[in-house]
Amino acid sequence: MDLHAVEKSYARWAPIYDRTFGALTGVGRRRATALLSKLGGSVLEVGVGTGLALPLYGPNVSVTGVDYSAEMLEKARAKVEAEGLDRVTALRRMDARALEFPDASFDHVAAMHVISVVPEPEKVMSEIARVLRPGGSVVIVNHFARDTGLLARAERLAAPLANLLGWHSDFDRARVLGEPSLTLVEECTLPPAGMMTLLRLVKAA
Ligand SMILES: C[S@@+](CC[C@H](N)C(=O)[O-])C[C@H]1O[C@@H](n2cnc3c(N)ncnc32)[C@H](O)[C@@H]1O
Repeated sequence: MDLHAVEKSYARWAPIYDRTFGALTGVGRRRATALLSKLGGSVLEVGVGTGLALPLYGPNVSVTGVDYSAEMLEKARAKVEAEGLDRVTALRRMDARALEFPDASFDHVAAMHVISVVPEPEKVMSEIARVLRPGGSVVIVNHFARDTGLLARAERLAAPLANLLGWHSDFDRARVLGEPSLTLVEECTLPPAGMMTLLRLVKAA
């Protein structure tokens, strides 16, 4: 998907996201925010979307959210205001391929259900690594392509619909593991049915 397709797709998703895809993917958001809340510190949430994760962070975390979709960000801003989420320090419109933050700005980075959506995921991983402090964690939640079975065939069949769906159904896990400064330290599949996987990568100290 190019950025224009992302913009168009998420302008369509924004009004219904929380009641559809958002409602089906709560487990990953809860696990990732629990992990980050335990680690504590400043968190950059890349592709914050409608801000479904924002109320889930603990009090020892401060969160900056970025997203390219103005419509999704508007929903996130409304949540922050309605729920008085003072741990959210900023919500900014930004392309994750060119993060407007200095090197090593954040203790940790979260990327939930976003890495198979962005154009050039390798570039996004390299930007994530750049803005992360040495020793910090990146927590990724995403669906990755299966190698075999009926679901693998369904994923491949749905792949040409990426612009319509708003994500790539057959996204290869290896594409997030190529960043040399990041090491995979934790991986688990999540219910229901292992559809999503949580990965934690740590930046070399
Ligand atoms: C499936 S939503 C996930 C939202 C949220 N993380 C969640 O778990 O509900 C994917 C989000 O990634 C955003 N996105 C896609 N490409 C982007 C880019 N290049 N830069 C910033 N955000 C991007 C979309 O606008 C959308 O809000």
